[in-house]
Amino acid sequence: MKFKCSSISPEKATSTVLAIYYSYDSKTCAKTLSLLDKQLGGQLSDYIKEEIVSHKKGSFFRLSPLGNQSYKHIIFLGIGKTKNVTAPDIRHLSGSLSRFVKKLNASSVSIYLDTKCLGTIKEDQVTQSIAEGLSMGSYSFKGLKTKVESKSVALSETTLISSFKSASLKVGFSKGLAVAEGVNLARDLANTPANILTPTEVVKRAKAYFKGTTVKVSVIDAKQAAAMNMNAFLGVARGSVEAPYILCLDYKGGGTKKPIALVGKGVTFDSGGISIKPSSKMSEMKADMSGAASVFGAFSAISKIKPKDNIVGIMPLVENMPSSNALKPGDVITAMNKTSIEVLNTDAEGRLVLADSICYAISKLKARVVVDIATLTGASLVALGELAIALFSNSEKQIAEFKCNELFTGEKVWNMPLYDEFLDYLKSDVADISNCYEGRYGGVCTAAKFLQQFVGDTDWVHLDMAPLMSSSKTSGEQVKGMSGAATQSLIEFVT
Ligand code: BES
Ligand code: ZN
Ligand code: ZN
Repeated sequence: MKFKCSSISPEKATSTVLAIYYSYDSKTCAKTLSLLDKQLGGQLSDYIKEEIVSHKKGSFFRLSPLGNQSYKHIIFLGIGKTKNVTAPDIRHLSGSLSRFVKKLNASSVSIYLDTKCLGTIKEDQVTQSIAEGLSMGSYSFKGLKTKVESKSVALSETTLISSFKSASLKVGFSKGLAVAEGVNLARDLANTPANILTPTEVVKRAKAYFKGTTVKVSVIDAKQAAAMNMNAFLGVARGSVEAPYILCLDYKGGGTKKPIALVGKGVTFDSGGISIKPSSKMSEMKADMSGAASVFGAFSAISKIKPKDNIVGIMPLVENMPSSNALKPGDVITAMNKTSIEVLNTDAEGRLVLADSICYAISKLKARVVVDIATLTGASLVALGELAIALFSNSEKQIAEFKCNELFTGEKVWNMPLYDEFLDYLKSDVADISNCYEGRYGGVCTAAKFLQQFVGDTDWVHLDMAPLMSSSKTSGEQVKGMSGAATQSLIEFVT
């Protein structure tokens, strides 16, 4: 999508659609409306006077005025009081705007926004949020329907009408496009069914996607994993005919700095294994690789934004299936760091594949901070609804970083406890630790506590993203289906 920043007066807009981000207290905005009204021979005044066009945050109003002006439609988007406007508000409105523009079959939009009066948001963050909203909001999962639904024109040009011109506006917009492409890529991966998106296919797609970029792709296959004693990872893979891989992405932009590791759960299908899940909604478990998808998506953005840091991505890719060769409840396996694990429930498989991957990030790649991201527990949904990612960390500094980014991304992260007592819930009679607590309570915390046993003193953040795995409805930048959540948080963390 092309981006232009123009200081023309809004009534001179040449795009088919003119979008006015409308606020109560922007004097320039009021002036703009009177200029437009004049141009349109008074067609606006009644709507404005009678407050049919609302400033209320989230309101939408479309007018297709008569006349020979270049723009054919005006869309008013209410932003409320300017001092209360947030980046998530702008992203949300821009997401809805993108679908409006699509419905009008327009390929260009001019956005009038009084960027000066948006108190706390920096100007590059304004344009980043607009780009993210426009691109994420117009996403749809394509490729598997054989009949083409009504073809619509794609939005190819956005012009920001702003009284001041600054290079950072353009920088922000292109960062936003890179982020949104990462999110949409994560959505594509998570929406793709498990018969197509096997571990082998994810590896194939990564090799193709990152070819010729600054991101290096390598894999650890089952044989190499066995040589490193990754028996927790291999144990989960045993029940499936699909070959498991640990997909590794490597970006170097930070000289000799030790890397940040992003570790994403990549269970391409989670049937539960021998502890098989109930059949209702089991199909959703094609998205149990959403953690890996957000790491993949984050690296797509990293390859374009080129941050000055070293970042590795580690994605354990397996299918969790029942078979005569599968792990059985009660089996004991030994992880890479020699911890013996009693597998009380084969459906608690995510923590097993993550345990070896975290050990690998720390012991082999010498990561200075590990962020793991996973659709790890149903219990996180019980705790937080479909509203927030459950965050656990051994570092106040990293918690603060994620909480700060939340204000910009709008991806809610809620800090949860890692009380030592949770370890008592994981006591095993036969091994060092069991892979789950069979009681009813604290499932999201005991899962995190299990992972912490493989971390040591390294700074670590665990994001249980199961609550945000899918969106039940289309709204703002969110589109019904698998969400690509956490991709934005990961990108902001490393850039
Ligand atoms: N992939 C699931 C968790 C999940 C459930 C993600 C629903 C998204 C939506 C995970 O592997 C799992 O099955 N966890 C079990 C753990 C239990 C056996 C201790 C769970 O949460 O029930
Ligand atoms: Zn499971
Ligand atoms: Zn799972």
